[in-house]
Amino acid sequence: MCGIFGVITDQEQILGPMLIESGKRLAYRGYDSVGCATVAANGEIDLRKGVGRIEDVSAELDFPAMRGYRGITQLRWATFGAPSYENAQPHLDSDGDLLGAHNGNVVNNVQMRALFLSEGLTVRGTNDGETCVHAVERHFDRNGGQMLKAIRAAYQDLEGDYAFVITHKDDHRLYAIKKGSGLVAGLGDGLNCVSSDLPSILPLTRRILRIHDGEIVVLSPEGVELYSVHDGARIEREEEWYDGPIEVAEKGGYPHFMLKEIHEQPVVAGELLHLLNSTPHLGHFLDALEATGDRPIYLVGCGTSYHACLLGAYYFNQLAGVAAVPVLGPQFIEQYGESVGPADTAVFVSQSGETKDVLNAVKVMRERGGRVLGVLNVLGSTLMNTSDVYLPLACGYEISVPATKTFVNQAVLFLYLAYRLAGRDTAELDALPELLELTTEATDEQAQAVTDYVKDWDDLYYLGYGLTHPIALEGALKLKEITYAHCEGIFSSEFKHGPLSAVHDGYPVLFITAPGDEMMMINHVNEVTVRGGRAIAVAAEHPELRSNVHDYLVVPDSDRFLSPILATVPAQLVAYYMSVARGIDPDFPRNLSKTLTVD
Ligand code: F6R
Repeated sequence: MCGIFGVITDQEQILGPMLIESGKRLAYRGYDSVGCATVAANGEIDLRKGVGRIEDVSAELDFPAMRGYRGITQLRWATFGAPSYENAQPHLDSDGDLLGAHNGNVVNNVQMRALFLSEGLTVRGTNDGETCVHAVERHFDRNGGQMLKAIRAAYQDLEGDYAFVITHKDDHRLYAIKKGSGLVAGLGDGLNCVSSDLPSILPLTRRILRIHDGEIVVLSPEGVELYSVHDGARIEREEEWYDGPIEVAEKGGYPHFMLKEIHEQPVVAGELLHLLNSTPHLGHFLDALEATGDRPIYLVGCGTSYHACLLGAYYFNQLAGVAAVPVLGPQFIEQYGESVGPADTAVFVSQSGETKDVLNAVKVMRERGGRVLGVLNVLGSTLMNTSDVYLPLACGYEISVPATKTFVNQAVLFLYLAYRLAGRDTAELDALPELLELTTEATDEQAQAVTDYVKDWDDLYYLGYGLTHPIALEGALKLKEITYAHCEGIFSSEFKHGPLSAVHDGYPVLFITAPGDEMMMINHVNEVTVRGGRAIAVAAEHPELRSNVHDYLVVPDSDRFLSPILATVPAQLVAYYMSVARGIDPDFPRNLSKTLTVD
């Protein structure tokens, strides 16, 4: 999973700032390494790349000074090949006249590299982006220097899902191909560009051309042409005008995007409720859920989005008596891929709408003839385009790698759907934005106090019962993601079946509890405290629970269905403050990427 951006302009100029700006917008896709390359009018290539974040590498290598009339930027999330200078992209071919960069996964990378070496090509690293460049190189030489033919032949050799951009120093065009990974072209004034996603080209132009799988896009300063990779035929497609917002990634006075996004939760939850009350998509979505009859509805997602699916299943069951099966994307294929059929419905949940593990499951559901419903944040994403009907999360851009506001809105959306399936009045949910606001205010300092204790522990647990089980999983995921401590989320009654042996003096265990479940949870608290563990409650005020625990993160009073959503906030804050206390940047934790378009 990486991000690529390529641009061609009508005259040689300083291209560095444009490459950096688009690169920063792609940084959520990967930040193990970054590279920029420009081609001057005389064909000279200036390639600068290094390990680390774009701000640091750019400052060190002076990206802003880079000049040319064609340019490529690549942000890498390492799969094949460790983060290193050799594996950083863009890459050159053996003799340095082809320049290219990719996003995605070439699954026969190892075999292809062996082939290149046996043919005497110069292979510098182990990264599959370099493989894309050499794959074109060998056919370029055989096809008398014709790029289109060479790319089409390379496509036959490269297995996997990817997109790459490539140029030859003496061919005054940029070429890009899409096979499974995101790619969109932008048509500007005196420039044309191509990128892994739309937001990275919006500062340059709102005229866009969608590229489909199996298409090659050829960019010159004058225009953009599309060709089929299969037969080389020209494809005609109308450009589109994108009139959505150009969202600016600014921290708005907060030290990190994560904290800003936590504080945005009350507003985006209110906006989502408003949208759900008015969108015509909702009726179609509910019709599809109801058409499932007595069969279970599959709720499919990965990571944080999976936790929202799990909460959705509790809501569907407890509020509407509807059976739902929460399932991970790849697990859906392995566990239900042979048994689902035209009578089934699955809701696929993804912030990015590009998670490959989810899209693979969508593909299987499609092949089996089932209904595909999407819940997504990024409009224009693959999930949006492949769903029979979709609902947007309406959170705006989520920059921080750990998902926060999109989880809250996924939970709000499932709660809303469960209310509708139950025939309950959704006006009862109107209190939610204000309750989220109150929770954020009330728990911020408490979370910092709890963090003072837990920050030195490298191992801890979150326990939840029923409705709060998904929040325990989410709290634990957030904590391990941005603090590098190990933290596990468990259904509280399961703790005694093994993990309880971890408890010793002072060992921290956080208990997230919904109204109505306190007495049950007190049992589970005591199993920990009598063994010397330190119990930290996350719950609305409850005297008996309070007298059984050491610390208390108090969420405002609400009903048992809203309460898990509110309890999410202090869990996010504890993870955030612990991350900062450990000197980690919570927005960009090591080894991760915001959008995972690889298997
Ligand atoms: C954790 C996180 C990830 C994502 C997961 C799925 O904070 O963000 O676990 O939830 O990679 O991503 P989407 O929702 O884009 O499919």
